[in-house]
Amino acid sequence: MEKQSPLETLFSLRGHVGLVTGASVGLGVECAHALALAGADVALVARREQLLQGLASELRKSYGVKILPIAADITVEADLDRVISRTVAELGEIDILVNNAGIAPGGRAEKYSRASWDAAFAVNVTAPMVLSQKFARRLIERKKPGRIINVTSLAGYLGSAVFRYVGYAASKAALANLTRQLAIEWADHGILVNAVAPGLIPTDMNVDSLTKPGIREQNEALTPLKRLGRPEEIRGAVILLASGASSYMTGTAISIDGGRQAW
Ligand SMILES: NC(=O)c1ccc[n+]([C@@H]2O[C@H](COP(=O)([O-])OP(=O)(O)OC[C@H]3O[C@@H](n4cnc5c(N)ncnc54)[C@H](OP(=O)(O)O)[C@@H]3O)[C@@H](O)[C@H]2O)c1
Repeated sequence: MEKQSPLETLFSLRGHVGLVTGASVGLGVECAHALALAGADVALVARREQLLQGLASELRKSYGVKILPIAADITVEADLDRVISRTVAELGEIDILVNNAGIAPGGRAEKYSRASWDAAFAVNVTAPMVLSQKFARRLIERKKPGRIINVTSLAGYLGSAVFRYVGYAASKAALANLTRQLAIEWADHGILVNAVAPGLIPTDMNVDSLTKPGIREQNEALTPLKRLGRPEEIRGAVILLASGASSYMTGTAISIDGGRQAW
């Protein structure tokens, strides 16, 4: 193997195995790029298999790493067991988990449906918790360290003046504090648990809202950098939190929001 530069040693993920949920579109695609470009082999998880297959080919070609696309619904526990066993069998023990998949059902609080609330919590909180448990149990049994990166949201730390999506806001706040609690409980096992907290970044999740008059402008005005994010702007934080460069970071969040939380 080629000798690594000091910079590569700090950030390299060569020899590691990552798993990214919600890797079919949007920010999950960027999380997968981040892990693969730093040298990790990566399992891609989401329900839309064709999109995963397309990304898998692109990542293999670009970075020469092993990529395993697996179609799965993260709210189905049997799917999570299948995802873990296939990844371990085909790529090796997973030591980087990115809980990125998420949904943001909209609606005013007084009319918010129970179904939207339950769906938001199932995908945004329960699935990351169950998957993190399955991931951590294996590492704890084998006395191996690992990393968990939860994709929370600006909406998990502050209420929104622009959007109406109470189930999303509450579930992302739960994920933010789940991050802190797991970081504390698993610190002794060398499993570091952190979050990346994006502000508004155009993806399928918000494409409809962004076509409504004034929504883009209001968000830009509320952002010190005066623009929305670009999906690839999440990559650096993901590499940092997955790599040796963040060896003394756990239970915290990196905001990628153009300064929104600095007001
Ligand atoms: N974009 C933003 O402005 C923004 C801001 C803050 C935080 N975030 C967070 O960033 C993460 C990614 O968001 P995004 O903007 O990239 O959204 P997106 O474009 O809507 O992508 C959501 C991803 O989640 C997957 N997913 C949803 N339900 C799933 C399920 N039951 N099982 C498996 N996969 C499932 C989808 O895949 P399939 O449909 O193929 O299953 C898709 O890959 C989310 O957690 C979101 O809350 C986004």
